[in-house]
Amino acid sequence: MSDNTQPVPSKDAARKERTFVMIKPDGMRRGLAGQVLSRYEAKGLKLVAARLMRISPELAKRHYEEHKEKPFFPELVRFITSSPVLVMALEGRNAVQVVRAINGATKPWEALPGTVRGDLALALTPNVVHASDSVPTAQRELALYFQESDYHPYDRTDEEYL
Ligand code: CMP
Repeated sequence: MSDNTQPVPSKDAARKERTFVMIKPDGMRRGLAGQVLSRYEAKGLKLVAARLMRISPELAKRHYEEHKEKPFFPELVRFITSSPVLVMALEGRNAVQVVRAINGATKPWEALPGTVRGDLALALTPNVVHASDSVPTAQRELALYFQESDYHPYDRTDEEYL
């Protein structure tokens, strides 16, 4: 009898992406990390690297380099270094776009109900989570936080449906 329960390899594996996600200080201090991560996991994304860390001011300035001329930059650096954050790499089809959709609009008052910020945030700087906004940004941000040896590839048991 033939075994027809073997996973069928994905035909469009080329669209598999990695993205960078951070549970910000407010998300950690409010105890929201688990429920935010569970939304990504439920969608089918795979956690392939993670670290709880305190961001230094130097790293914060590099991370938010594109905002360095903005009036909110000093507050942003102060906030992001104020307590530990959980940094993660998530992998899956269209991971960058999918995580952005799950998180909702940067401005929580514009974020739709059902999204992380639509359900869990009201303020702009403490808006629970940060995620890369494009594939090149994801590559840059992942390289700031993770080395190749930090990644732990594995198969999810539901891989064939993802
Ligand atoms: P994030 O996705 O981490 O990227 C930059 C962050 O700056 C953003 O989320 C907000 O938390 C924060 N921020 C503070 N003020 C503003 C602003 N006026 N416009 C956009 N982002 C802001």
